[in-house]
Order: sequence, then C-alpha cells, then structure tokens
Amino acid sequence: MRAWPKDGIAFGGDYNPEQWPRSVWDDDMRLMREAGVTFVTLGVFSWSWLEPTKGEYTFEWLDEAMDLLHANGIAVDLATATATPPPWLTSAYPEILPVDHDGHTLWPGSRQSWCPSSRLYRELALSLTDRLAARYHDHPALAMWHVSNEYACHNLPCYCDTCAIAFRAWLEQRYADLDTLNDAWGTAFWSQRYTAWEDILPPRRTTTFANPTQVLDYHRFGSDTLLGFYREEYEVIRRHSSQVPITTNFMTLSNFRLLDYHDWAPLQDVVSTDHYIVDSLEHPRAELSFHGDLTRGLAGGRPWILMEHSTSAVNWQPVNPAKAPGQTVLDSLTHVAHGADALGFFQWRQSRSGSEKFHSALVPHAGEDSDRFREVCELGAISARLGELLGSTVEAEVAVLWDYEALWAMSGPCMPSSAIDYATAPHTFHRILRERGITCDVVHPSADLSRYRVVIVPTLYVVSDENASAIASAAESGAHVVVTYFSGISDLDDHVRLGGYPGAFRDLLGVRVEEFFPLRPGEVVPLSGGGTGSQWSEDARAVDAEVLSTYAAGPLQGRPALTRRAVGEGTASYLGTLPDDATLGSVLDEVIALAAVTPAAQTPPGVEVVRRSSSEGSWLFVLNHTTQEHEVTVTGHDLLTGRDVGPTHRLAGLCAAVVREA
Ligand code: GAL
Repeated sequence: MRAWPKDGIAFGGDYNPEQWPRSVWDDDMRLMREAGVTFVTLGVFSWSWLEPTKGEYTFEWLDEAMDLLHANGIAVDLATATATPPPWLTSAYPEILPVDHDGHTLWPGSRQSWCPSSRLYRELALSLTDRLAARYHDHPALAMWHVSNEYACHNLPCYCDTCAIAFRAWLEQRYADLDTLNDAWGTAFWSQRYTAWEDILPPRRTTTFANPTQVLDYHRFGSDTLLGFYREEYEVIRRHSSQVPITTNFMTLSNFRLLDYHDWAPLQDVVSTDHYIVDSLEHPRAELSFHGDLTRGLAGGRPWILMEHSTSAVNWQPVNPAKAPGQTVLDSLTHVAHGADALGFFQWRQSRSGSEKFHSALVPHAGEDSDRFREVCELGAISARLGELLGSTVEAEVAVLWDYEALWAMSGPCMPSSAIDYATAPHTFHRILRERGITCDVVHPSADLSRYRVVIVPTLYVVSDENASAIASAAESGAHVVVTYFSGISDLDDHVRLGGYPGAFRDLLGVRVEEFFPLRPGEVVPLSGGGTGSQWSEDARAVDAEVLSTYAAGPLQGRPALTRRAVGEGTASYLGTLPDDATLGSVLDEVIALAAVTPAAQTPPGVEVVRRSSSEGSWLFVLNHTTQEHEVTVTGHDLLTGRDVGPTHRLAGLCAAVVREA
C-alpha cells in the first residue's frame, strides 16, 4: 500500500482498462504521465471481469493493471466492484432484482440492478469484497478503497417484497409498537389503522395520495438500509486492510436526493463525492459552488475528494453541451476553492461503445491531439502546483442550513404547493451571498451554530424541537438568523405544529401566520418599497416584530412580507415570500452589515472569490465565471501563472487566479 498523493491536488479519475485491449494500456500509462495523473479509481464496474461465472475468479488482469499503475507512480483507489452484478448472477438469482413503484421488476441490462434489502445480494457482494481486500490489501499501488459506487443511484427506492419485510423490521426498531406507529403516521385518517405489522407495505402506487409519513419513513428506511450495506463492506475491508482509507462516492449534486448524507459522512474515512453540471439549471455554476460548500459541511470543514466530474459534455441530458475552452480548468478550480483536495473525473479514456460512449473523458475520442486533452494536461500541471494549499480549510461566518429529512418531507404528497422545490430557497440565498463575495458553510440544522454570525434557515419545513431551539439560541447569543417561508411547520413525524405557523419559529420571529397563499409558477406579488415576491405568500401578523415590507396588492395587501425582531444579542428576520434578487440582495446586505460579515474580496459581478487558509498562509481563489475580462483587486503570488500580482490584476474570461496572499 502507498500514501494517497500529497505532492499536489490529487488528479485522475475512473480507469476502466477492461474496456480496452491490453495494447492500449501502455499508451494509457504514457498519456497519464503526460497529463500528470496521480490517482485512478479502478474496477468500479468490473464484477463480470473478476468473477465471470459463479466462484471462478480472474484477478490476473487486475493484478497486471495494479502493477502497471504502480510502476508508473500512480496511486489506486480500488473499487469493490459491487455496484453492478454480472449477468450470470441475476440469471441465477432473479429474486435480487429491484421492483419499481408499480410492481414492475427492473431487469438487468443496464447497471445497479439489485434490491437494496437483498441479503443474498449482499452476501455475494461481500464475498467479492473479501477476496479483493485479501488479495490487494498490501499491493504497493493501493492508496484508497472505493466501496460500491454512488449508492442508491438507479436502485432506490425499491418496492419489492423483500423490502416490505425489511421495512417492517426497520419500523419496529423506530416505533417499537403499532400504537406509536399509528400515531406517528396519523392512520386515524382514511381508515389506515394497522393492527398487524404484516399489513404494512412500502408506499407502492395506490389509488391516490399515499400516507405522507409512510413516504417519509420509506426515504429514511432506504438511506439507512444502504448505509447498513456500506458498513458491512467497510468492515470486510477493514478485516484485511487496517490502514488504507475507505470511502464511497456521494452524489451531493442537488438533483440527487435519495440518501441522508449527514448520516453517511461520519462513516467515511474521507468524504468523497461526484458533481456534474446540470445544464437545465438557471445558475449551474452557483449550484457547483453550493455543492462544494455542502460537501465541505459533510466533511466537517475538512478537505474532501471530488471523485468524479466531467471534462466536458455528459451523456444523460436531453442535450449535452460541451464545455467552453477554459471551462474544464475553471470548474475544477471552483471545486478546489470550496475545499476539494483531489480532482477526479469520469473517466480516463472515452469509451468506444456502451451507454457512455458520448460522455467526455480525460482522453477524448479525438485522442491526444485535441484541445480537450491539452486542457487536461494544463489542469494536471496546475494540480501539481497547488500542493502548498493541501489540507487548508475554508472559513465561513454564514451558515445555510440543509436537511435531507426536510427535503423529503417537503417533497411528499399533497403539499400546499408542489411548485416550490426544497432547493430553491437555499440555492437562491447562497447565490446572492456568493455574488457578494460572502462564503457560506452549508450545514445540517444540528451543526454547532455558535460559530456563525449569520444563520440562514431556508424552507426548513420539518424541524425537531432541539434544532429549532438551537437556532433560537444562536440568535440569543448574537447571530443574525434569517428564516424563510415554509420553515418550522412540522415535527419529525410530519405533524403540523398548531396555533399558527411557523410553529417552531413563531416565538423567535414574533410572527404568526394564519394561512398560506402559495403563488402559482411565474406569479409574483408586489412588495411595498419596491420589488416583488414569488413562490409563496402568506397571511402573517407581526405579533412582536418590525415590519420591513408588506404585500402591496392582492388578497394580502398590507400584510407583512418581511419582518425583523431583535432577539438577545442578535436578530431574527422572516421572509414570507421569496423576494426578487435585488430585493433579497438588499435584505441580505442589511443582515451582513448588522453581523459585520465581510466578503473574501470585492469583485465585479460574475467573479467569485473564496479564501482557503491554514497555519501556513492563505490563498485567494478568484474565479471569473464570465466570458469578459475583469479587473480585480488582489495582491500576492498567483500559483497558476507563477507571477506576482497586484494591487490590481486583469483576469480574462473563464480564467482563474489562485493567489498566495502576502
Ligand atoms: C456517475 C457514475 C459514473 C458515470 C457518470 C456519468 O453517476 O458514477 O459511472 O456514469 O455518472 O456522468
């Protein structure tokens, strides 16, 4: 075994040599050296190549690949290969196949076709993991273990009978008896009262809306079930390999919502994740930055590994645009700015066949004589030059709360509006603050909030009593708390808190809401003092709060839309609607001023700044996401160009500077 690369930002990606004739491998090594690759993830989807028939193992090719990588100085993040079973396995054991909402079996032929609750699948996967760990635990190329791949991707939720049995066992653990479950699920409604555990089913397709708490619990159950599987794989590896770090790659991009990564993160030796640009988003690069701050929050503020992203186009959107020249480097550096200490890509060499043949890679179809490969080599060289900032952290004075349970509950059936998405408010606040050079941590509501000057509580629909009171205490002790509409509405069973919304935050905010008036898609409501609100409005009364703005028209004319209340040493602001960017910007400017939070640097619009620092110094990332040249005020040594810069520095469009500050 060897240490994870520490000379620079680790640079590499998924390597699938089994897709290529042996003759290509030597060329791979030559090009990897040329590109500055320092690690690869090996064997993610290799089960059918490692165990071509039951009990027949063919590790020789992997031995050779590992040896070759070692000879070329490349560290290996070795996968357990258990993300996708081979065809013989699903033919022999069709009972492991997952079943969809409608009861249809999802057949093999793609990937990840296995039921998350299947004991049989686990045993077969654990047996392969055991063999791999026994064989490679002391291989000199081994630097990390990569368990499965993006757990939950494609096979959660599964609604099969095996899951039904496992769900009942999970519910018995949670509720102990049926009376407690009946109460939590509110089964007095619609004649749903259970008198035997065996009557409980997964929330399969039914006549109309399913029980919302049952649906919420099914999310919790799915996440816990796969986490149980991860733990088992982890323990099998640990029996053979006591030192090498173990991780599984998360999908913290905001359109993947199936696992509660706040439960998963503490079980990672190092947090790793994948990120892809979703072209349909209105602000894809702001989402990239949000993703980095969320991942850093999961990593407890420590650096994390970007296991996969793409050099250019992906293959899974209706239209897959390529990245502009410079964008590969800029996107990667944005991840590093937000705390990534490793840059991995899917995948090393672009496939010739299969579903991902049109997904970009480090080596494109065009080969080494291509602008993309030249940019890859440039990024490899840059990664090597950034070694001095490894281990440095990003300090933030603002927290944006993010909670998968609130997300699941809010996405449940029969809500006041299915047109509001959980991510909209957190993303919008984060984006507006990012535009001001203010760095945020994205953290769970149970995080230590005493570290923050500002705490943003966006659409925290479900909240526990403890977390609600920790938020109130943060304000008492001097934080400036900003709560949005549709927060603090329900408890963890998704029972509405009575007496006027938002039950959990009514006293903190000094606001009492009698009724929701959600807005239709595209509908806006004018606000007094200018600006508009969208998404939501509500019939609020300021019981003990200053009214900053009211609705200027419509059924709520004159009712408070934005309020603030002094609380202990801090304040608690409330937004009953989502103001337009300019109005929200002014609200946040006021909050930032009250909190005396300062930006990492002053920059023109579209130029993002983030500071990483350690006892060794500080590095300012200046990321020009626009296509125009901009002048920024920054002094120090730019690690990208190797030149001193300042006090002003001209940065071309889609270019970055990483400035070691004096
Ligand atoms: C990831 C997956 C990779 C590859 C990539 C394509 O979700 O882990 O194997 O499929 O997406 O974007």
